[in-house]
Parts: sequence; C-alpha cells; structure tokens
Amino acid sequence: MTNTPRVPTTRLGGPTGPEIGVQGLGCMGMSFAYGPTDAGEARATLERALELGVTLYDTADAYANGENEEFLAPFVAAHRDEITLATKFALTVDPEDSTRRIIRNDPAHIRACADDSLRRLGVDVIDLYYMHRRDVNVPIEETVGVMAELVAAGKVKQLGLSEVTGPELRAAHAVHPIAAVQSEWSLFSRDIEAGVVPAVAETGATLVAYSPLGRGFLTGSFTSAEKDLTEGDFRRRQPRFTGDNAQHNTTLLDPVREVARARGVTLGQVALAWVQQRARVHGVSVVPIPGTSRRTRVEENAAAAHLLLSADELALLEPIAGQVRGGRYADMAFTSAGRE
Ligand SMILES: NC(=O)c1ccc[n+]([C@@H]2O[C@H](COP(=O)([O-])OP(=O)(O)OC[C@H]3O[C@@H](n4cnc5c(N)ncnc54)[C@H](OP(=O)(O)O)[C@@H]3O)[C@@H](O)[C@H]2O)c1
Repeated sequence: MTNTPRVPTTRLGGPTGPEIGVQGLGCMGMSFAYGPTDAGEARATLERALELGVTLYDTADAYANGENEEFLAPFVAAHRDEITLATKFALTVDPEDSTRRIIRNDPAHIRACADDSLRRLGVDVIDLYYMHRRDVNVPIEETVGVMAELVAAGKVKQLGLSEVTGPELRAAHAVHPIAAVQSEWSLFSRDIEAGVVPAVAETGATLVAYSPLGRGFLTGSFTSAEKDLTEGDFRRRQPRFTGDNAQHNTTLLDPVREVARARGVTLGQVALAWVQQRARVHGVSVVPIPGTSRRTRVEENAAAAHLLLSADELALLEPIAGQVRGGRYADMAFTSAGRE
C-alpha cells in the first residue's frame, strides 16, 4: 500500500451539507457494465477508499438489477456513519433486451424503488437519492415533489438529479433544494459546460462528475472496445470506443500522455485533476467519482486530488474534447445534451 495522503474535503450541496471527500468512488463496475471483477478485491477497494478519505459511494438500483446495492450492503453496515451513500431510481434494464433501458419517473414507481433500495442496502435512510434519468412524460416538478416526500418521511436525506438540463435543474430546485447533479464530465465529455454547469453554479448544488476517466479510455488502459474488452462490456456499444472512432480518439491522448510524462503521474491522474480544475473555472464544487474495483487504482485516483495542473498544461488539454469522434452514448435522447 502506498502512503497516499487523504483527499481534501468539501460539503455536499453547500455549506450546511455533510462533509465528504472531494473525490468519491463509483461502484457500478463492481457488479455491472464493464465485465467480470474480483469480488474480494472490490470489497478491499471499498475499504481502502475509505482509508484515503473517499467517502461518497455511488450506486444505483439499475446496476445489475439491484445486485450492486446488495454487494455494498455489508460495507455500508460496517461504516454507516463514516460514509455518504448515494443511490438512484428511474432506470431499468429491459429484461427482454439487455441493450434497452426503461425509464420511469411516475410517483408509484419512485416510492417503490426507494423502499427496494433501502431494503437491499440494509439501511433506514439513503443519504443522497438521485433521479437517474428523466422521463419526459412526467413534469420534473412532480418527480421532485415525490422525492421531497421521501425526505419528509425520513427515508432520504438529500436529493440529486442525473443527466438533467439547466432548465430542468432550476425547475426542480424551486420545488426542493437539489444537493447534487450527476453528469458525465471529463476531458472527453464537456457538453454539460454550456447549460448544465452554469445552472449548477447558480443553484449551489455539488456537481458529481461521473465517468471522469472517460470510462477508462483516458487512462490508456484500452484503445478499442472490440479488441480489448469482453463480449458483454457496455463500452462495446458506445460509438466513441469502437471502429475508426476509437482509433482516432486514441490519438487524442497524446497531450494527456505528454503532461503525465512531464509531471511523473499517470494519464488517469491528469484526467482527474483536469475535472477538479475545470470546475473552479466555472465556480462549481465538484466531486468526481472514478470507478474502480482495484486497490492500486483507488490509491492512484485519490492521489490525483492533490495534483494541480499549470495554465500551460491546461491549455494543452483544452482542444481534446472538441476533437472526440462518436457520442458518449449510442442514444443521446436520455442525456441532458439530447434535450437541450
Ligand atoms: N449517472 C449516470 O448515468 C452514470 C453513468 C455512468 C457511471 N456512473 C457512475 O460513475 C462511476 C464512474 O464512472 P465509470 O465507472 O463509468 O467510468 P470512469 O470512472 O471514467 O472509468 C472507470 C473505468 O476505468 C478503469 N479505471 C479506474 N481507475 C483506473 C486507473 N487508475 N487506471 C486505469 N484504469 C482505471 C476501471 O477499471 P477497473 O475497475 O478495472 O479499475 C473502469 O473500467 C460509476 O461507477 C457509476 O457509479 C453514473
């Protein structure tokens, strides 16, 4: 184990919110989306993250149909008061077709999902409860109204929204304070900077940056989803990781590699430091949640919370996102960008 210093802290959702590490841990890949993992190593990773001051743990009921929540339950039980536990509702993998997603924001569904997540996680309250995806058939005010009832009932402490647009966030925030907005944000995915990030700055929510390592691509650990990743891996369906796009996008890592080499750090650390610094430019508080099931990587990622890039280094990295080929999802309709 390395002597990685603890990550600094911030407050979730503003000055009165709970204190959390400025980097969280994405737990999705421990059970879902990115191929097989070693459960023992994943459990050790949860523990190591906490030792490093990583206290926001991110899951969702959609991750392996609740299995990811169940996987986390023993860790949560052992550390209930030391961690901030976030989960989500609204998204289900279609049982008939694993590539299809069903999105529901109707009140009965939200209430049932919350009870199911509480049971699977083995807790009596969820610290941060997100709407995972927006169902455009339900007004956002109605969705947040039901989420606010969960707060009033003591089942949820704070509310979050994932993949919402700026106007949706403002409308939601008028109904109940929104502590966190979870959106994809990385050197490869910057579409939220136009409309979402300014609204986050305005409302004072914390921006929880998901896939800050570009789903691993920014670390250089794979260059082509078809060649390097296993059959069921979700990334094999993402346009930017396949075919000619992947080949082109790999070349975009050159400046990341250059900065990493000069600073004696890894590509992933440069990518994580970039998210922290980009947030400062926009005046938002950010908590990236890189996902990993390996202790060595959680140490590496946590260390990036102390890396400060220079203005020249940031300038070198600036053009990357504009040159990426292929969308961040095959179907962008379910993202904030798809509704802007
Ligand atoms: N709200 C949403 O719609 C949404 C969507 C996607 C994800 N999320 C959340 O965000 C979290 C993070 O996103 P993500 O997992 O999609 O993407 P990510 O954090 O950008 O990348 C994760 C991938 O990078 C690898 N990795 C992690 N650290 C590494 C390192 N230091 N060196 C090399 N490879 C490394 C991981 O593999 P190993 O595990 O093998 O280390 C994994 O394959 C998820 O776990 C989930 O909780 C939310």
